[in-house]
Amino acid sequence: MTMNGPARAILVANQKGGVGKSTTVAAVAEMIAAGGRRGYRVLVVDGDPQANVTVEDLGVDGDKGRSLAQTLQFGAPLAPIRNVRPNLDVIAGGPQVAVVGASAHLMAENGINMTEHLQIQLEALCETESYDLVVIDSGPGDVPLLDTYLSVANYLLIPTRDDQASIGGVARLAQRFWRARKSGALIQLLGVLLFDVNPRAVKRNQEVFAQINEMLEGSGTSPFDITIRSAPAAAVDMRTLHKTAGELVALANDDRRLRLSRLRDKKSPERALWTSDPSALAADYQELVREIVKRLARFESMAAAQAQERVG
Ligand SMILES: Nc1ncnc2c1ncn2[C@@H]1O[C@H](COP(=O)(O)OP(=O)(O)OP(=O)(O)O)[C@@H](O)[C@H]1O
Ligand SMILES: [Mg+2]
Repeated sequence: MTMNGPARAILVANQKGGVGKSTTVAAVAEMIAAGGRRGYRVLVVDGDPQANVTVEDLGVDGDKGRSLAQTLQFGAPLAPIRNVRPNLDVIAGGPQVAVVGASAHLMAENGINMTEHLQIQLEALCETESYDLVVIDSGPGDVPLLDTYLSVANYLLIPTRDDQASIGGVARLAQRFWRARKSGALIQLLGVLLFDVNPRAVKRNQEVFAQINEMLEGSGTSPFDITIRSAPAAAVDMRTLHKTAGELVALANDDRRLRLSRLRDKKSPERALWTSDPSALAADYQELVREIVKRLARFESMAAAQAQERVG
């Protein structure tokens, strides 16, 4: 995997809640930070007042969203929590961010520009910390915050479940995306990700793919080929242990060894995890990372060619 060059920011969003945004942010960020020969430097920005990716997925307390809130409102420098994982830093989410979101209209009326504040501070931080990638998580509500992130990010990844309400959330977000583009945002649509999918429901999955393809017509983007399989037991483990899908694999191996040794010693085999094998789920995310990197490379080479044309 090659991913050199300036940091790029991927916003993960859907106006519907509970579609796998935070879980996916954590899994992808952790895998990219852990992978590669030198390991890529990754920053997670938890733009959600619920702070799920900070607290539940990555297991850090954070500052209740104070740093992000102060950046959005006052343009203060961003203060990351460092080394949450090797090569992975986090700007924590939390209720402070909700307060800023709620006063967005007052700020706009008074010429306070949240987008500009975040953009400048994010660029400054990426410069000093040499991040290769920024992944922004967002909450399901709060439209002013969402619009701010849409204006700051370079790419948009939209996860969705296959029910009509979630797909409706994709459609509403797509509208906001186009509106942001019209008012000058440079964000590009990286793709739509189907989450919590039954891999055996082939017919149903084809139907959903067709529906999303139709929705994306003219956008130049398609849904990701890989889908994230339904894995409710692993999901419970990830949230209670604050581990990503990739990290759960090593834990499951330890768990298996422990249970075997207890069986050998004629003790009852206690299990520490609900899932017996998270490796298929982790493999889905690994493949997603490959697809993301491939799409980023395509966008970036297109941008480079366009820049060449302008020069030439
Ligand atoms: N592969 C999976 N299969 C089924 N459920 C999963 C899977 N991965 C995660 N979950 C669970 O799905 C729920 C929603 O996931 P998540 O919190 O990531 O969604 P979200 O879009 O960030 O939600 P919100 O809009 O509230 O921020 C969580 O309870 C999570 O533990
Ligand atoms: Mg979330």
